[in-house]
Amino acid sequence: MEILDLRHFSSVDLRPLLEDETRAWSAMLSWDYNGSAEMILRYVDAKILPGYAAIERGRIFGYSFFVYEGSKGVVGDLFVANGGRLPNAREVEVKLLTHVIETLQQSPGIHRIEAQLLAHEAGSVARPFLDQGFQRHPRLFMVLNLRGGSSPKQLTHPDIEIRHWTEVDYQPAAAIITAAYRGHVDAQINDQYHTLAGSLRFLNNIVRFPGCGVFDAESSFAAMDRKAKNLIGLILCSRVRGDVGHVTQICVLPEFRGRGIGQLLMAATTQNLIKRGFTMLSLTVTEANSGAVALYHRLGFESKRIFDAFVWEG
Ligand SMILES: CC(C)(COP(=O)(O)OP(=O)(O)OC[C@H]1O[C@@H](n2cnc3c(N)ncnc32)[C@H](O)[C@@H]1OP(=O)(O)O)[C@@H](O)C(=O)NCCC(=O)NCCS
Repeated sequence: MEILDLRHFSSVDLRPLLEDETRAWSAMLSWDYNGSAEMILRYVDAKILPGYAAIERGRIFGYSFFVYEGSKGVVGDLFVANGGRLPNAREVEVKLLTHVIETLQQSPGIHRIEAQLLAHEAGSVARPFLDQGFQRHPRLFMVLNLRGGSSPKQLTHPDIEIRHWTEVDYQPAAAIITAAYRGHVDAQINDQYHTLAGSLRFLNNIVRFPGCGVFDAESSFAAMDRKAKNLIGLILCSRVRGDVGHVTQICVLPEFRGRGIGQLLMAATTQNLIKRGFTMLSLTVTEANSGAVALYHRLGFESKRIFDAFVWEG
């Protein structure tokens, strides 16, 4: 087995592995990975995707890639064919990650590395990260079954109006996100939350790029203070499969919390998705964010998987 630079290969070499990965994401996460796979293949053909491929008998059977975002490196993905069934799959995963981590840590100007490995069980690939001084944050992948369940009744609030997300919410939403995550564990995991410019970049990634599903404006909502007519919270939802939604963001300004606005936002999204025939809604949440986890449990979400987020600051 050899580990080689991903940029030596083309989409023809990588496509069979990505087809395996697409099947794995569908089975594990009810997630259609085709959009992401096509984007990866375009970058591979352009020879601009940094990463590594595991090769045996001339075939790619594992890969990991990363991206540079200013002074930050983000591990994009890790996949080895047949996952657990291959006897040395774990060893190959560790080798690929070790190469990625070393490359990023040695890249001039890179002071931070983030990784979220949604398709890997918590702890399963932690060793190369922990050995290099990364912090580990367990996160939950939770799902709500929308089939057969009754749609939540219309919930209203005397002071708050819930209305559909629109383009004009962009700039104020970035301010809400920055304020909502001040001092929050998720701001340790994703440093985009630290600044207004970073939160705008986060929004841009969610709304305009198909990396995390396809943004679904219809099931995304804004919470408005009726009196002041300001945005005070929001929920953003993407379509990750024809019939599956995924909450990519939900937050409420600190001074408005504990009044049922989070629940109201979630109900608006759920109701919209049920009306449109969606069968499932998923989300990810940091285990240490216990208030949010409790809220999701109360709303009927079940924890399906635990995965890890890793952060390194050099
Ligand atoms: C998670 C978050 C969106 C929840 O929003 P919220 O508006 O506070 O949510 P709710 O008010 O509906 O529910 C929160 C609590 O208020 C309570 N509550 C609900 N309705 C209430 C009401 N009418 N009056 C008083 N309390 C109420 C709920 O029982 C719940 O109690 P809990 O603390 O035991 O869970 C909010 O805390 C937030 O923005 N956090 C920071 C960002 C974040 O963590 N986002 C989630 C990432 S996955």
